[in-house]
Amino acid sequence: MNIYLCLLVALLPLTALSAENYAGKDSMNGISYKKYQGFPEKWPLVTIRFRKDTSEMRLTYANDVAMKTLQSGAINYPDGSVFAKTGIHTGVDDQFTSSVVPKGIRRYQLMVKDKKKYASTGGWGYALFDSDGRTFPEEPVVSQNACYACHALVENRGDVFSQPFSFIEKTKMPLGQLGLKDSSIKFEWKPTAKLPDAVKATLPKGIKKLRWLSNQKLRENVFQGTLDELKPILEEEARSHQAPALFLATDNKRFVIVMPVQDDNCIGSGAFKIWSTDMNLKAVDQSYCTHD
Ligand code: HEC
Repeated sequence: MNIYLCLLVALLPLTALSAENYAGKDSMNGISYKKYQGFPEKWPLVTIRFRKDTSEMRLTYANDVAMKTLQSGAINYPDGSVFAKTGIHTGVDDQFTSSVVPKGIRRYQLMVKDKKKYASTGGWGYALFDSDGRTFPEEPVVSQNACYACHALVENRGDVFSQPFSFIEKTKMPLGQLGLKDSSIKFEWKPTAKLPDAVKATLPKGIKKLRWLSNQKLRENVFQGTLDELKPILEEEARSHQAPALFLATDNKRFVIVMPVQDDNCIGSGAFKIWSTDMNLKAVDQSYCTHD
């Protein structure tokens, strides 16, 4: 076999792999959904969170060893520690519209500690499943690297964002509890002239500069979920500087822009417009008013 043929043969499986659709599997990065199915009934609840922009309720659970480590304040999670989170759609109760009720599972996320197996992602294996416990189309290793790039922002907490919340005692949640405020996420001013055409074409005319999220690792490791997760942080930056805030992947194709807009009907902490690229790299826009 000559060298070119050898190369071709060696490359074939790679090409086949890149065309593969990763959706619909019941395990990701060696983590099986079935193994942890039903975690909300078996494990203690660590905390709840609510995403205002997507109206998604999130409940985080931990198995015994992860919970003990978290409660002790330690960050060296032993192998076998698992955190599991479920995102739940919410909507109004049609019978009593000022009350918001759960409207079904949106997704499940898992973090499983195995220092050896997941050495390249800080010892945590990451997996994401839809409401049927099936994977999404994205390439699992790329997704896992994106999960890790964000979770590594809280390296000082063992890559775990959640803090235990007491459902019995009167607890005051510390402000800035994401720990991102003065540490990990960095913004700087960027002239719009320096941005790629896709972003320039999306922004309304006349904007000379914006707030630019500059963390290189996060920009290098992006999956669709990164864009969603960053929206509230971009919103906060956009609000405090009254300027658009942008997260742009290093591929210069995937991005989210959150921009404050004037809306007299919006009483609350402000009206915003978001443009976020979808799986086909099309910038989809959405307007919303935040209440609090
Ligand atoms: C851009 C940031 C970001 C990305 C990307 C991200 N996460 Fe998270 N993750 C968070 C934040 C913030 C929390 C805290 C809970 C919340 O706000 O929902 C969290 C919480 C979690 C938890 C509960 C344990 C903890 O750390 O609090 C799990 C499990 C989890 N994420 C899994 C994943 C998986 C799996 C992926 C990738 C498929 C992923 N995350 C990607 C930011 C991110």
